[in-house]
Amino acid sequence: MGQLTAVILAAGEAKRMRSRQPKVLHPLCGRPLIAYALRTARAVADRTVVVVGPNAADVRATAGDGVLFVEQRERLGTGHALQQARAACGEGPVVVLAADMPLVSSETLERLIDHHRATSAAATLLTVVAGRPQGYGRILRQGGRVKRIVEDRDATDDQKKITEINVSVYCFDTRRLWKALAEVRPDNEQGEYYVTDVIGILAKAGGRIEAVVAPDPVEGLQVNDRKQLAAVAAILRRRILDRLMTDGVTIVDPAATYVEDTVVIGADTTVYPHVVIEGPTSVGSECVIGSGCQISGSRLADRVHLRPYCVLTEATVEEGAQLGPFCHLRPLSHVGPRAKIGNFVEMKKSRIGPGSKVPHLSYVGDATVGEGVNIGAGTITCNYDGVAKHETRIGDGVFVGTNSSLVAPLTIGEGAYIAAGSTITKDVPPGALAVGRAHQIVKEGWAARKAKKRTGVED
Ligand code: UD1
Ligand code: CA
Repeated sequence: MGQLTAVILAAGEAKRMRSRQPKVLHPLCGRPLIAYALRTARAVADRTVVVVGPNAADVRATAGDGVLFVEQRERLGTGHALQQARAACGEGPVVVLAADMPLVSSETLERLIDHHRATSAAATLLTVVAGRPQGYGRILRQGGRVKRIVEDRDATDDQKKITEINVSVYCFDTRRLWKALAEVRPDNEQGEYYVTDVIGILAKAGGRIEAVVAPDPVEGLQVNDRKQLAAVAAILRRRILDRLMTDGVTIVDPAATYVEDTVVIGADTTVYPHVVIEGPTSVGSECVIGSGCQISGSRLADRVHLRPYCVLTEATVEEGAQLGPFCHLRPLSHVGPRAKIGNFVEMKKSRIGPGSKVPHLSYVGDATVGEGVNIGAGTITCNYDGVAKHETRIGDGVFVGTNSSLVAPLTIGEGAYIAAGSTITKDVPPGALAVGRAHQIVKEGWAARKAKKRTGVED
């Protein structure tokens, strides 16, 4: 039957989004909207063609490799868009998908294609029976067979009562498709060339039209505006959480948890409410993600424990490390195995070695910290001199006393001690004690002398 080509229609102007950004690039659970149609298409087709509008460099860039692009210069409707793909299609059947139907599954699409092949139909379309069919094309049947599709805006009041709607997913016999498409006229309310009219033209010519009704009506949900985007996102979010729970992740409150489609989480990890995990993030097994954490584009190994309210961006956390509550790991933070990052600690572009501790109130930036190091409360790496950033290197087993300022560039050798309250500006050799603070002066009896001066009376 020849190679199967999938054509994704993605050139629409998306006026209803009221956005400067193309609709198909609006993010949906961590991926651009078009990524879902692409994934479904790639799962079933030998080749994928995407019809894009002018100035669609961003859309082309997100679609990735192995996709052919054709341009629809003028937006004259879905039928006109499909016409542009003709030269890019092969001899085999053509599957057409609108780019704004992200909940259509590849299983459903496979069923549609199998049914199309088994029946040798001229066209097979996907429909759903919708609770609220407003805005969709309605399926007109005669004696049970599909005769044509009428768009919502062209429908009579009686036709508007029909609840079986067109999903915008079709499988066509190639030869008959192009012939019928050439006959489509823009005689409708919008003055556009509708792909939906191909169905009526084929049926009239005696072609067999088949319809597959999707078992789950949500597969028919489209994204024309931002309210629909949010509605689709809610369903997708729940699907993602269901998949994770099936794979052994505990989601304490699915209604209050946001995990994007790009996230991987290992078994026996527990995610508490009000957590956001987004971007290309992987979380290992047996981790605990406390309430209020936000993790973006990060990698957490097994048995990592995040206490509540940690914010991690492009960070790496190794096995058994403990973080928070309230810590902030900025890009290129690397926390070693079994290390501990406590409350109100900010890290940036730094490595903390195995078992090292930064338990309270510190800033660690552009630093490399060895193994078994203790960084006292209130320690700051002074990495910026107003012009450039400088590095701090702290060797294994170093003890940094509380409230120290480490002025970079700086190297503190293995096993050295920094006295509390020091400002360290010079390198410290291994095993040394560095004290960088004023000497303490004690004036015995000073308080009594002061009181006497004020009142003239001795205590
Ligand atoms: C379309 C269907 C409607 C169906 C609905 C379901 C038509 C005429 N109507 O309506 O029956 O119920 O989808 O989702 O097809 N596009 C182009 N070039 C264009 C116009 C559109 O590439 O000139 C693309 C859009 O980017 C979009 C897809 O085609 O991905 C569908 O276009 P859209 O405007 O959303 O069609 P609907 O009015 O929703
Ligand atoms: Ca649409």
